[in-house]
Amino acid sequence: MAIELAVIGGTGVYALGELTDVETRRPETRYGAPSGPIRVGQIDGKRVAFLARHGEGHALPPHKINYRANLAALKAVGATRVLALNTVGGITERFGPRVLACPDQLIDYTWGRISTLCEDGGEVLHVDFGEPYTPALRAQVIVAARRAGVALVDGGCYGATQGPRLETRAEIARLRRDGCDLVGMTGMPEAGLARELGLDYACLAIVANWAAGAGPDADEVITLQDVLDNVTAAMGDVAKVVQALLAD
Ligand code: HPA
Repeated sequence: MAIELAVIGGTGVYALGELTDVETRRPETRYGAPSGPIRVGQIDGKRVAFLARHGEGHALPPHKINYRANLAALKAVGATRVLALNTVGGITERFGPRVLACPDQLIDYTWGRISTLCEDGGEVLHVDFGEPYTPALRAQVIVAARRAGVALVDGGCYGATQGPRLETRAEIARLRRDGCDLVGMTGMPEAGLARELGLDYACLAIVANWAAGAGPDADEVITLQDVLDNVTAAMGDVAKVVQALLAD
C-alpha cells in the first residue's frame, strides 16, 4: 500500500500518537542516515510515515540536521507528499502563541547548511521556487483544517534563521520589515530540498511563542518550557488536521 503522507515532526513532536501497526524503517541514503528511524504505520486505514526532525530524543540542533538524508529517506520508503510540522515564533499580529498556520512564502536566513542536492559533479538543478510550498498540498491542508473545525491561518511568510539561539529583538524587527510573519530554524533547507527531490511539501507551523520583542510584553523572556507547553496544547488540533488530510 502506498504511503499517503509523510509527517516530519519538529520541536516537541517526537511521535504521532495516532499511528497504529507501526513498523520501523532505517533507510541509509546516499547522503547518510536520517535523524532517526522512520515509523511507518496507519491512521484511519491510510499509510503514514513519521520522522522526528531533531531525532526522537531531540539530540540534533537545527544546523546539524541532515536535511538531505531525511527527505531522501522519506522518498525511499515511498513518500510523495510531506507535511512538515514546524514549531515557530510569531512576529505579526495574526500569529500569536498557539496559532496554527500554513505559510505560503519563506525567506532563508540560514548559512553553512548543505542546501542542495547539486554537488559532486551531478546534474545542476535550478528548480522553480517562486511558490516554496506546493500550492495543491497547501490547499488540501487548508480544506482539511476547515473540515476538521480547526482554526488555521492561511498564508504568511516564514523566516528561517540559523539558530540554535533565539533571535535578538533587532533581528526580529528586521525580519518584520522584510515581511516575515513567522520565524523558525528548520524551514530551510528542507523546503528547497523537497522541491529538488520532486516531493510535494507544505508546512504546518505551530506558533509556540511571540518572537523576541514581538508580543505585547516586549521584555518577555522566551522559555523552552513555554514553547513545549504550547506545542503540546496544539497537538490535538494538529492530529485533527492530519486525519482530515488523509480523509481526502
Ligand atoms: N525563533 C526561532 N525559532 C523558534 C522560535 C523563535 O522565537 N520559537 C520556536 N522556534
